[in-house]
Order: sequence, then C-alpha cells, then structure tokens
Amino acid sequence: MFDRIAGVYDVMNSVMTAGLHHRWRERAVDLASVGPGSRALDVATGTGDLAVALAARGAEVVGSDFSDGMLERARAKSSAVRWERANALALPYDDDSFDAATVGFGARNFSDLPRGLAEMARVVRPGGRVVVLEITTPTRPPLSTFFAFWFDRVVPLLGRATGEDQAYSYLPSSVKRFPGPAELAAVMAAAGLRDVRWIVTAGGIIALHSGIVDGQR
Ligand SMILES: C[S@@+](CC[C@H](N)C(=O)[O-])C[C@H]1O[C@@H](n2cnc3c(N)ncnc32)[C@H](O)[C@@H]1O
Repeated sequence: MFDRIAGVYDVMNSVMTAGLHHRWRERAVDLASVGPGSRALDVATGTGDLAVALAARGAEVVGSDFSDGMLERARAKSSAVRWERANALALPYDDDSFDAATVGFGARNFSDLPRGLAEMARVVRPGGRVVVLEITTPTRPPLSTFFAFWFDRVVPLLGRATGEDQAYSYLPSSVKRFPGPAELAAVMAAAGLRDVRWIVTAGGIIALHSGIVDGQR
C-alpha cells in the first residue's frame, strides 16, 4: 500500500494538514534533542521529511523504511541522510547505536506496536531519546466533531480523487484503533523507556510522546 501511495503522499499530507505537518515534525525534532555530533534514526521514515528535519539540526541521520517506493522519494529529497531499507520490527542495527530514534505517523502502522517501540529503544543508547509523533483522536467538541467529519468524510474523498481510496479509508481506521496518549505512554514505558511525557497539540489531533532509554533495561 505504501509503495502505491508514495507518489501522492507528500501532497496529501500538505492538503490534509494545511501544511502544518512541518511544524509538528519540528516539535518532534526538538524532543529528540539532537545536534552536531549525534546520531539519529528515523524509523518508518516514508518520504523522509522527519529525517531531513533531524539532519537540518546537524545530526548524522539514518532514515529507514520497508517501502522502496517511499524510500525512492526520500532519496530524491536529500543526500544528507543515509536511507536504508529495514523492517521497524527487526531493526538491522546494534544495541545502543544511536542517540535518538524517532517515528512520525508510522507507529500506527506497526503490526506489533510494543515490538516496534522496543526495537527503537534497543538501538538507542541509555539516556538517549525515543520520540513518537502521531495522529490522535480528539475527545472534546467542537474539535472532535470537526475531526470526525474531516477524517471519516473528507479524507476518503480526497483519497478517491487521487485514485487511492483504500489507503485513505485505512488512514481514519488506523487512527481509531491506535492507543490514546496515556495508553501509548504505558506501552513506551513497557518498551524500556522512562520519564515518558506527551504533549497533545493542534486542538487535540496530534500527540508527541518522548521517553528516555533506561540504563537498567
Ligand atoms: C504514514 S507513513 C509515515 C511516513 C513518514 N514517517 C512521515 O512522517 O510522513 C508510514 C510509513 O511507515 C512505513 N512502515 C510501516 N510499518 C513498517 C515497518 N514494520 N517497517 C518499516 N517501515 C514501516 C510505511 O512503509 C510508510 O512509509
């Protein structure tokens, strides 16, 4: 599915979020706390926007994904990032190889969320950060009403306009079944992260979680 939608993915992101996704990525990068001299991994990197934003802070960055179609777009975007084909559930990196690992709008797609998060924690050194940027379901009106209308009605229509109905009907359903902020924090803690914190922003539509890799894992 991701290979198929790679060509429309960036345009759809900008249309669906009115361009705001770049701002949310910058906030995720802030939470990763990386800069010159640090190594960062962006898992499920897709077309690579989050990896590119990490590299812009001076970090040495690897962007990995299992979709060749997505990686092809990412490669065309930047040569400052090392793009690698990898399954997030079995990362081909040694323990403690990175100072931070991020995932943007990707954790929702992991077929095994605890395992994906545990893999991110494994490859980050103790004291380093794991950051998850995800869509979450707002619980309070009026945003919850608008969100339901936008996601359940408008997004599938936009998907149909691009010829990718299935992928953009999958998107709302994947958001609905993804754990809420407190539950996700608990899964991150169980994956070996301490001091897990989260921010819910954009009127309750976006959640940014971060945790520190525990030296005692
Ligand atoms: C919605 S896109 C997000 C892309 C990008 N991170 C972003 O911020 O826009 C989800 C990505 O997760 C990737 N993905 C899902 N499960 C994966 C897995 N187990 N291993 C590697 N990549 C995975 C897909 O190939 C896709 O590129």
